[in-house]
Amino acid sequence: MSRRPAAADWWRQAVVYQIYPRSFADSDGDGVGDLGGIISRVPYLASLGIDAVWLSPFYPSARVDGGYDVDDYRDVDPQLGTLADFDEMTARLHGCGIKVMIDIVPNHTSDRHAWFREAMAAPKGSPARDRYIFRDGQGPDGAQPPSDWPSSFGGPAWTRVPDGQWYLHMFAAEQPDLNWASREVRDDFLATLRFWSDRGADGFRVDVAHGLAKNLAEPLQPLPAEPDPGEQPVRHGAHPLWDRDEVHDIYAEWRQVFNQYDPPRIGVAEAWVHPSRRPRYASPDGLGQAFNFDLLEANWECGEFLRVITDNLADAQQHGASTTWVLSNHDVVRHATRYALPAQDHLSSTRNTRAWLLSNGTSPELDRGLGTRRARAATLLMLALPGSAYLYQGEELGLHEVADIPAGLLQDPAFLRSGGTEKGRDGCRVPLPWASDRPSFGFSTAAAHLPQPAWFGPLSVEPQEHDPASTLALYRQALRWRAKLQAAESLEWMPGTNGQVLHFRRPGGWQCVTNFGPRAVPLPRGTVVLASSPLPEGLLPADTTAWIIPHAPQ
Ligand code: NOJ
Repeated sequence: MSRRPAAADWWRQAVVYQIYPRSFADSDGDGVGDLGGIISRVPYLASLGIDAVWLSPFYPSARVDGGYDVDDYRDVDPQLGTLADFDEMTARLHGCGIKVMIDIVPNHTSDRHAWFREAMAAPKGSPARDRYIFRDGQGPDGAQPPSDWPSSFGGPAWTRVPDGQWYLHMFAAEQPDLNWASREVRDDFLATLRFWSDRGADGFRVDVAHGLAKNLAEPLQPLPAEPDPGEQPVRHGAHPLWDRDEVHDIYAEWRQVFNQYDPPRIGVAEAWVHPSRRPRYASPDGLGQAFNFDLLEANWECGEFLRVITDNLADAQQHGASTTWVLSNHDVVRHATRYALPAQDHLSSTRNTRAWLLSNGTSPELDRGLGTRRARAATLLMLALPGSAYLYQGEELGLHEVADIPAGLLQDPAFLRSGGTEKGRDGCRVPLPWASDRPSFGFSTAAAHLPQPAWFGPLSVEPQEHDPASTLALYRQALRWRAKLQAAESLEWMPGTNGQVLHFRRPGGWQCVTNFGPRAVPLPRGTVVLASSPLPEGLLPADTTAWIIPHAPQ
């Protein structure tokens, strides 16, 4: 039985499909995806059965960081379209019952933003410089950066300007950090939130949400040691740069803007913080939701999935927001590839896979078949969980990471600024294949801005449309069943759950069972409505998920 959420709660159990606009579909033949491309694919989006799309940045940008370097927050990059295109896209999506979420990038602008140009032309100590974080350097002639803080993309987080001062950039040098202690900066972002909300945006994904408030009191503090790989992030509140308590004053102001709309606008925080610190980002007085990236950090291992699910549902219950599940996005290795690592390297978190791909390239040891099988099982498991699910374009096609893009064509500053010691994120951002027999697989009439591999052909949308066993068909069926079976935000673990099998039931009797182990296991009683792989002899084989209902489907 379908249970429609109250209008204001549409996001609580929504399936949100992330579009990376430059790699989704190109309508004007320049090899770069655009809003016209999205408009032309609205029927496809509607056919998936999603509740909302989230668009990665489409603002004017030099694309130093894939558009996360924004020149103007209230316009569309001319290469991607116009504001009129945005309006048309929004109207068409809304016409199909699909909400529109957009990315907002408040931690930094691009170095081409009017404010930064003004700051560069203005003297030291001027109000124009005060919108950013300028400081004098250390040492007798100020030639040393003000602190030893590193940029997240490698190299120092400070760059020197011709008059000798330095500015802070926690990401690329072309992404100067804003000074959120400035009232003018705060007011301008409130105006941006209104601008897009008035145009019909239903929500905002907030980039680097944990980074806006910084302790910049002199002397600048050294950073605490990073946790070891695989360890939880440190619980914070006292870090000079990340996850400071004052950041929530900013989101309390945003919430006042959100609540002026009907239904209220929603924010989802991209906050890489200790799980215990997530609730404040997700609070109803703040953004409303926060990403939980624990599944994409988890290995394909029953105990890890059990822990992640249990912990996050308990957290969500405590703080009132629904939790958010993510297996893939534009920053991580696609989950089909994460789960394809050879058995001896079975650890499949993004961090491990990226390191593995860097040293092994396109090694034939990658077991793509196994990766796809597990990815389908993981997706069905995720889609049965209470809370909202964020899908990333191309995962519905079972796409793998493109691990062999020639170094000269890579675009990601994470690769470029690290001198190649970081694999970078281009491999999950390769333009989508729509048709097996057209130039650039139907993405564009020109060559795609990142090269597409030949193996994209059979994974294109068009052949999958005709294959009932395809991953695309599985996603569509799963979303249809999910909408039908959707239930209150809780689950009950079933006795079958053990070191190999996860088995739970949602209110109303919808059961989900996943076999992580090597041996087939019996299926619970009931009618199987969907399975991620065939079920020979009525058993649940290795690396497979099945959905079961108590009675025959209507
Ligand atoms: C997080 C975004 O998801 C990522 O793509 C970007 O590089 C950084 N924030 C900096 O904006």
